Amino acid sequence: MITKMSKLTILLFLIVSLMPAVGLINAQESSFSLRGLAAQNDIYVGAAVWTNHLDDPVHQDVLGREFNMLTPEHEAKFCMISTARGEYDFSKVDQLVEFAEANDMVIHGHTLIWHSCSPDWVENGDFSREEAIEILREHITTVVSRYKGRIAYWDVVNEAFDGAALRDTAWLRFIGEDYIEMAFQFAHEADPDALLLYNDYGAEGMGGKSNAIYAMAQDFLARGIPLHGIGMQSHFDVGSINFTAIGQNIQRLGELGLEVQFTEVDIKYLGETDDEILRHQARDYYRLMETCLDAENCTAFIVWGVTDKFTWLRDASFFDNPTVEPLLFSDEYEPKPAYFALMSLLAQRAGVTPILSESELTAILEDAPAAASVLPEPTKTDPAQLAPDAANGLAYYAPFNVTITLDGDLSDWENVPRVTVDSGTTVPAGNDTSFEFAVAADDANLYYMADVTDSIVVYGNYEAGEWYREDSVELYLNTTGDLGAAAYQPGIVQIGIMAGNLTQPETPLVGGSNNGDSQISFVVVETEKGYVIEASVPLKTDVWDIVPEHLGVLGFQTHLNGSAATDRDTKLIWSAADTQDQSWNNPSLFGQLIFWDKAQ
Ligand code: XIL
Repeated sequence: MITKMSKLTILLFLIVSLMPAVGLINAQESSFSLRGLAAQNDIYVGAAVWTNHLDDPVHQDVLGREFNMLTPEHEAKFCMISTARGEYDFSKVDQLVEFAEANDMVIHGHTLIWHSCSPDWVENGDFSREEAIEILREHITTVVSRYKGRIAYWDVVNEAFDGAALRDTAWLRFIGEDYIEMAFQFAHEADPDALLLYNDYGAEGMGGKSNAIYAMAQDFLARGIPLHGIGMQSHFDVGSINFTAIGQNIQRLGELGLEVQFTEVDIKYLGETDDEILRHQARDYYRLMETCLDAENCTAFIVWGVTDKFTWLRDASFFDNPTVEPLLFSDEYEPKPAYFALMSLLAQRAGVTPILSESELTAILEDAPAAASVLPEPTKTDPAQLAPDAANGLAYYAPFNVTITLDGDLSDWENVPRVTVDSGTTVPAGNDTSFEFAVAADDANLYYMADVTDSIVVYGNYEAGEWYREDSVELYLNTTGDLGAAAYQPGIVQIGIMAGNLTQPETPLVGGSNNGDSQISFVVVETEKGYVIEASVPLKTDVWDIVPEHLGVLGFQTHLNGSAATDRDTKLIWSAADTQDQSWNNPSLFGQLIFWDKAQ
């Protein structure tokens, strides 16, 4: 069936793609391209590109026609251009720069310093502070001066923060905290006209990480370090963006005099994409662009790829969904609803007739379902095989009625499905830590079990607010019925149970937002392979009244924190939506706990 939207899509795609060929209007500058409309709104629309994308002539066409900014997606990074000190191969970067110039696009350089792409000779080197500073200077000077006057913006340092603390990187170890400001100084010396950005993820809205970046920016500006803007990567999930918080963050950065750019936008969905998801995605793109247009200091909206076909998220090492569709153009370069939503918004703001009619736009903006219902429907029909569910990390089926005694003996969990969690955002090389969890309920309590495998259990370092210093397991619940809630509120709890409870301290060691509301009870016992936690929370408390019903849903998440020494070095995460360890901040990233009535 061809829907109204897809007929329109095909029609517009034909008009737009034929336009340069008939030579009547230059689509780049007209109101028939993103870049034309973006220019009329005084912002850049960019796309990230690898040189091999240019082998595809259609890609070249769409890129040049729709975008007025280009970012090298990977090939300008240090590990890609230098195999030995002083040796550089710029051929790929040159190709991208030449393409951009030939197509009248501004170049957003990405990136001079990034821990994930330092050459081996840097990573494995053993340098004194002075030597490392020299290497930093040489690298930045070589790259920035080569493209002086041609690359307008540089992401000077990328992802230097890990949460609110500085990430442990080779540069931090060699040089110390001031490596970041040095990088900006060297870049500025090499091209005083280039605009220099600090770029990061998970710091788009308000929170611990963005506060830390804000504080760094404030300090840099007070001390005259040449920082001109903040890049917000913006790798998001459909239905889980807090636009208000992003707007607030852009505004406070603007008050410091900084530009902001959305530097790596993609909005992915975990399950299978259908028309409803595409509409919801379009709404998210629309609202994100609106957030940028509403802020005077937001100057660019860069998508992390042109076509879904080439998204980095299809690479199994980044994300486990080979058909994910997070961008503006389909695999066949068809513009998606998100493209039309952006076109319409930019047109509206520029006083040009929007491409979508008011009713088509309303269908995108108002019909989109709440995040919770965006998750796939449960598919289980056989209670004997409740879990692990096919939708791993999305839904866990918790049987009731099952009564559990909190005694460290797991025999009463025998018929409750177990899920193994062995991946997350921080997994050290040679990791031997994993855990199995299970959840059940009777008519008084919800029961949770974690069976942890960990060769070194670190505890005894707990202090309130500093609980990341020892091993722990976290259980998160959203009992409000609003699974799309993107902020903590009564009824949403994060409960961190410390390994130090093994010693049966007089006061239980518990951390996390609203954990006191949960009235949790637990036991923690040592086992041959690590430790076991058995916990229960009452179904009825002052803040919630959970009544298990067959296929009834709660928001649910569980994490494991491991430390091999004194600080956290392992983070295992169950919910597949939480790709950036943000559950402490954003409950819409939890998965679903679905009750299963054993009597059914
Ligand atoms: C990614 C590219 O998209 C991939 O193609 C490459 O293999 C690895 O790097 N944050 C960043 C980007 O700042 O540089 C990363 O790009 C994606 C995450």
